[in-house]
Amino acid sequence: VIKTLNNSTSSSHLLHRGYGSEAVPHRKVAVLGAAGGIGQPLALLMKLNPLVSDLALYDIANTPGVAADVSHINTKSEVKGYMGEEELGKALEGSDVVIIPAGVPRKPGMTRDDLFNINAGIVKGLCDAIAKYCPNALVNMISNPVNSTVPIASEVFKKAGTYDEKKLFGVTTLDVVRAKTFYAGKAKVPVTEVNVPVVGGHAGITILPLFSQATPKANLADEDIQALTKRTQDGGTEVVEAKAGKGSATLSMAYAGAIFADACLKGLNGVADVVECSFVQSSVTELPFFASKVRLGKNGVEEVMGLGALSDYEKEGLEKLKPELLASIEKGIKFANK
Ligand code: NAI
Repeated sequence: VIKTLNNSTSSSHLLHRGYGSEAVPHRKVAVLGAAGGIGQPLALLMKLNPLVSDLALYDIANTPGVAADVSHINTKSEVKGYMGEEELGKALEGSDVVIIPAGVPRKPGMTRDDLFNINAGIVKGLCDAIAKYCPNALVNMISNPVNSTVPIASEVFKKAGTYDEKKLFGVTTLDVVRAKTFYAGKAKVPVTEVNVPVVGGHAGITILPLFSQATPKANLADEDIQALTKRTQDGGTEVVEAKAGKGSATLSMAYAGAIFADACLKGLNGVADVVECSFVQSSVTELPFFASKVRLGKNGVEEVMGLGALSDYEKEGLEKLKPELLASIEKGIKFANK
């Protein structure tokens, strides 16, 4: 079961080798929005993760059922469900990692920014509680628009005096997952061996896959690279349209969220060389937040890595995305301070 959860870079074998014979430390993970389309399969995947000791499932509705269901799985972690704001504090207390897939998803014709009005408020409320009940937790923000919800979270934490830029992450792993899958299909290379960094942000053209750095190397034509880039940028919309009003990516997102949370836990536990792309506070460009490869460690972000060499096409994409990404960041900051 574990094997199907982990890819080649995060197999359970590697993970145990990383610890030698020492016991795995106690770790609590909270999922906020745990009864939703992403939340439920994410709860399942986190229940399968041997690094998790306590799994807190929080939502405004339906968590008792989800928690009872998931709790019957015979893996290590203890599962508890929490429902309604009065139980949020208990859900968060003692958490090492908080994963946030709470909020409304897109319907056909909507951009991620169309979700701003509802999700910004939800994220703000949840982050107020995180500042109060588990200010040291690593926060994995999934709720869209990530380009704005991460800046909102940073402002909320700053106001509470708890902000640590090393502990706030926008989850862009699904963009990486998609880029890997699409590249493997086109380049005809084994998908489990593929690596592709994806930088920028998490919406439309702000998603910039760096196929020039993809491995295993393949000599793809410029048109192929452009088509792969576009498909990665529109991957979410592909799912939204196929679901025809029934929501956005949930299963692939849960997988991506589980990979990213696992990387955070490994980093916390001192495993060396844990690197994932994430949307974080950054000085890689002139923008205050930017997604790039990040090395994870005992305190969260250990190193925000640079972009590496870019092709001309990628350089152009980078310049094009900056105004839109900056506007989304500023919109989040403004909302949090109004
Ligand atoms: P959903 O509607 O199926 O589930 C959302 C859940 O959040 C519901 O169970 C709802 O009760 C809960 N919720 C609402 N307000 C809450 C609050 N104040 N506290 C706790 N829980 C609350 O939506 P789905 O499909 O699970 O998507 C969730 C979010 O994830 C959306 O914003 C979506 O856009 C985003 N998303 C992000 C992706 C990424 O790559 N970062 C990919 C796909 C979706």
